[in-house]
Amino acid sequence: MLARTGSLRDRMAMYNGNALKIGVFGANCSSGRSATKVPERWSASWEDCLALARLADEKGIDFILPIGRWKGYGGETDFHGATLETVTCAAGLLACTERITVFGTVHAPLFNPIIAAKMFVTADHIGEGRFGLNIVAGWNEGEFEMFGVKQRDHEARYAFAQEWIDAVKRAWSEAGTFDAVGEFLKLKGVRAYPKPYGGTRPIIMNAGSSGTGQAFALRNCDAFFTTTGAARISLAGAAQRVQEVKSTAQAIGRDIEVFTVGQVICRPSQAEAEDYYRHALIDNADWGAVEGMLALRNITPQTVSPEEYAAKRRYFAANAIGGYPFVGTPDKIADELADLGRAGLRGIAVSFVNYLQELPYFCDEVLPRLARFGLREE
Ligand SMILES: Cc1cc2nc3c(=O)[nH]c(=O)nc-3n(C[C@H](O)[C@H](O)[C@H](O)COP(=O)(O)O)c2cc1C
Repeated sequence: MLARTGSLRDRMAMYNGNALKIGVFGANCSSGRSATKVPERWSASWEDCLALARLADEKGIDFILPIGRWKGYGGETDFHGATLETVTCAAGLLACTERITVFGTVHAPLFNPIIAAKMFVTADHIGEGRFGLNIVAGWNEGEFEMFGVKQRDHEARYAFAQEWIDAVKRAWSEAGTFDAVGEFLKLKGVRAYPKPYGGTRPIIMNAGSSGTGQAFALRNCDAFFTTTGAARISLAGAAQRVQEVKSTAQAIGRDIEVFTVGQVICRPSQAEAEDYYRHALIDNADWGAVEGMLALRNITPQTVSPEEYAAKRRYFAANAIGGYPFVGTPDKIADELADLGRAGLRGIAVSFVNYLQELPYFCDEVLPRLARFGLREE
């Protein structure tokens, strides 16, 4: 294999010519993105995550996106009760793979930025330019309490994240010694070597959904993840949303690519896929976990009407905790994914009930169809 340049352009292309990038989302967390009690639900053990990464690498999946989660949501399965820390996990996976890009997901307020910058550089050297950073400002109060860290109000969270990412970028790029002193950080005499692989920097993504979150992503990131994909709204609506994000970024002199997320249940027949979807995500939903997630967002029988509560409960379970469900035959799923590409989305991160069992069929059946649509290399 030729040595990678590590240029930002090549990093964003994930070192291949696939127009529509496909990633695996949330596999570092127990049960992945499905709050289900089915016995085959995802373990998120290191052995399974490693086997999945090797399989994904071999089958041509472009990236792995973990979830930065620290504490389970409760319920019978304690959904997300066991999670592999994402940067150390990425380092291990990068050492054992050849082509795939692996993200680390980091809550800015929980990590010293210079230690974080050096962890990212280390992972990036291990992967020879294949490490990516998902920066999270944070939202989950209970998780923050467990670190003894007070969650700031929403606007201040992003003001802090701005100082944090500026410090990380300076540690990645600045020669010699510098001070980074602002409203929140007081870093003196900082010196950080080595710099990232190839003398460039890892790609950075963010998935803020508020106006402030989106503005942060546009100012600082290369990729913006939104849950509003073409599959949820009309193709024209999605194309317009992508265009809006890109042109807002261009107005401040930045290029940004838009990605989305989803859950895949792909089977040879539509009936089989729908049966399994109902079985795993509705009939065997871990309702205690779903209710725990809703409570964190202050959605309880006390705060909303019974109708709204029932609708939210069902929506959270059925939509894989916030990602469109792609349920059907390879033809149907390839068509729906192709629509994302046609809408201008650069890629999608998907989850499965059991990633290892379900990824081979998806790769063998859906990826060649996307290649025939001209959205992926053969
Ligand atoms: C694709 C995607 C990945 C995300 N990953 C994480 C994560 O790993 N950990 C986390 O705490 N929040 C995660 N979030 C939540 C966002 O970072 C953000 O906090 C949330 O969308 C609220 O947006 P706001 O901060 O603009 O209000 C993710 C959201 C999306 C859509």
